[in-house]
Amino acid sequence: MKKAFRYLLLIVSVLVVAICGFASFVAVRGIPKYKPQNVSLAISATPVRIAKGQKLASMLCSSCHLDPKTGKFTGRQMAEAPQFGTVYSRNITQDPVHGIGKWTDGQLVYLLRTGIKPDGTFLPVMAKLSHMSDEDINSIIAFLHSDHPWIQADTTQHPASEYSFLAKFITTIGAVKPGEFPTNVIAGPDTTDKVQWGRYIALNQVECYSCHSKDFTKNDYSVPEKSAGFFGGGNKMMDPAGHEIYTANITSDKETGIGNWSESDFVKAVKYGQVPSGRHLRIPMAPYANLSDNEARAIYAYLKTVPKINNKVDRKL
Ligand code: HEC
Ligand code: HEC
Repeated sequence: MKKAFRYLLLIVSVLVVAICGFASFVAVRGIPKYKPQNVSLAISATPVRIAKGQKLASMLCSSCHLDPKTGKFTGRQMAEAPQFGTVYSRNITQDPVHGIGKWTDGQLVYLLRTGIKPDGTFLPVMAKLSHMSDEDINSIIAFLHSDHPWIQADTTQHPASEYSFLAKFITTIGAVKPGEFPTNVIAGPDTTDKVQWGRYIALNQVECYSCHSKDFTKNDYSVPEKSAGFFGGGNKMMDPAGHEIYTANITSDKETGIGNWSESDFVKAVKYGQVPSGRHLRIPMAPYANLSDNEARAIYAYLKTVPKINNKVDRKL
């Protein structure tokens, strides 16, 4: 009996040492690095692409990179998701030193698809658009080269991000990992099929699910449908004043989601931030004024096909 106890103690001690060792390894090593792939590519900035890229940037990049103080994509602190640490989005204006003026199109595409920078740094909080169509990605890059005021050279600089232990841990165990760099051409969605079109916008283009599922750290960026609490809301964020705000359940559950909303209620909420009760949605749910009505309707049609989740979110309204 005594012997058994000694063995048990030994096993427990070994486990404790191993866990502590792993924890210090994670804390010291930080976010893992990856070897970036060389992509050679030159994207022609046609007016059609620039216009499309501007629309996409207004719905996606701007939410994290636009600083209202400079009116440009000079980056800011990502205070809405403190669980990742003290993270700053970067200056992505055309400044060659402080911005991305020297990046090649290949480096930009690789980062946008995978989240990996040319020096191998992996950015867990940055969007990973691995399923976006080639044409959409190319349009974003065409826009980044355009003369739009958001991206004109600016010398703003931010301190290096300090990632939390949680961010280091989930990237070390691979729960959050780089997006896959596509090996085949990715075509855009069939826009005559409303559900497919809406799915593309909500998952691959504007990524509504990333905020609207249960927890940023439990999202599956390669197969979004496998994210915990997919579209069932309850993801804790911070509003600009530092108050907790929980994302809404936007599955069609009648009791706790938006199952009772009409298509026009939905379009009004998503595009103009106004919900049926007359209340206005709060930041970080920025109105998607640049979505066309048909795009917003397509998202509605797609959300109707998402499994309902009964999850009452305390919205603190
Ligand atoms: C969810 C927030 C988020 C979204 C959306 C987002 N980014 Fe980022 N991005 C970040 C963060 C955070 C970093 C920097 C992280 C760090 O350095 O620790 C970053 C870094 C970058 C960098 C690297 C810059 C450098 O010098 O290191 C580029 C380029 C970039 N983003 C472009 C874009 C573009 C283009 C879009 C729109 C398609 C976009 N991002 C959308 C959060 C975001
Ligand atoms: C940056 C995170 C974020 C993104 C991205 C986001 N949302 Fe939201 N959304 C929220 C938050 C937070 C709320 C709750 C706002 C409030 O309570 O005032 C919300 C509320 C909503 C509501 C209101 C539901 C209700 O019951 O009141 C709808 C509808 C909605 N979002 C749809 C969308 C759609 C569609 C997309 C993609 C086009 C999207 N959201 C992208 C964070 C986000």
